[in-house]
Amino acid sequence: MAPVPIQHKHVVSVDDMTPEWIEMILKVAQFLKVAQKEGLNSAKWLGVSTALSGQVMVNLFYEPSTRTRLSFDAAMQQLGGRVIGTEAAGMFSSAVKGESLTDTIHVCALYGHVIVQRHKQKGSAREAADLNVVSIINAGDGDGEHPTQALLDFFTIWEKFQGQSCKKITFVGDLKYGRTVHSLIKLIIALRDTQLDMFNRIQLVAPAGLELPDEYLDQMASAHIEVELFGQLSDLVVSGSDAIYMTRAQKERMAEGEGVDGNAYTLQPDMVELMSPEAMVLHPLPRNDELPAAIDEKPQARYFEQAGNGLFVRMALLLWIFGKLPEFD
Ligand code: NCD
Repeated sequence: MAPVPIQHKHVVSVDDMTPEWIEMILKVAQFLKVAQKEGLNSAKWLGVSTALSGQVMVNLFYEPSTRTRLSFDAAMQQLGGRVIGTEAAGMFSSAVKGESLTDTIHVCALYGHVIVQRHKQKGSAREAADLNVVSIINAGDGDGEHPTQALLDFFTIWEKFQGQSCKKITFVGDLKYGRTVHSLIKLIIALRDTQLDMFNRIQLVAPAGLELPDEYLDQMASAHIEVELFGQLSDLVVSGSDAIYMTRAQKERMAEGEGVDGNAYTLQPDMVELMSPEAMVLHPLPRNDELPAAIDEKPQARYFEQAGNGLFVRMALLLWIFGKLPEFD
């Protein structure tokens, strides 16, 4: 009898995630965050620090990255695994010699057990995962999705707002090409009517031409989320938000002539003063002019903490991929 092929675990799209699975990842990430706070010599931290010993993660980044690549590296190393990779695969991998993504994945699968892939083509992570030769983590596929970012964004929101409901979140900036927005909106929809349902009202602030694509608007309508659209940021939009999710203009994805004057999408420090001190300002980073550094000192500024949470969420994802989730109450 032919051997049954192994089904590798992947993190490709929020579409594949169930509320139960999301909750598990959030709880494991929280466990890891507490473990790290208790100290690198605490029983909890030591308990996971060799969990992935002998495993190799391959970083395959065809687009620039700081946080995603480094936090995945750090996550794998904190779990006792090893990391190999190419950080400018578009320039230094065999792609420049005309190698197909399929061939590259087949070869990387010979050297490692999980591939963290960032690629400029929407759908490329699914293409790689469908080969089913190695686990694939989508670290961003063009203007498609960035599911691990959505999980860490939501983790940051959940830590603050868990147990509360009916909040309002505002997405600001380039909602057309911003893949982090796409994935976070999908995640909010996936958690609708569950105990992780956090937002029933969404405000979208985007320049003309860079609005959220219809497919996401349709999904929000089906999920009975109240959506309001705005062409610019205003005191009213900001002051009524429990969370504001700022994004930069994804200039590298824009066609000639696309894009706008950024001033209407800059979150001014005096606008943040109008928000509740319990509200939060998020940004996947890197930022440009839309988020002035003067906001960093305000109690609502959570974006560096958000980036830090990436470590714990990505550790949780790697532990899940390798079937090594810690046991805890
Ligand atoms: C984001 C991305 O790559 O989509 N960055 C990140 O991973 N934190 C956001 C961006 O580049 O604007």
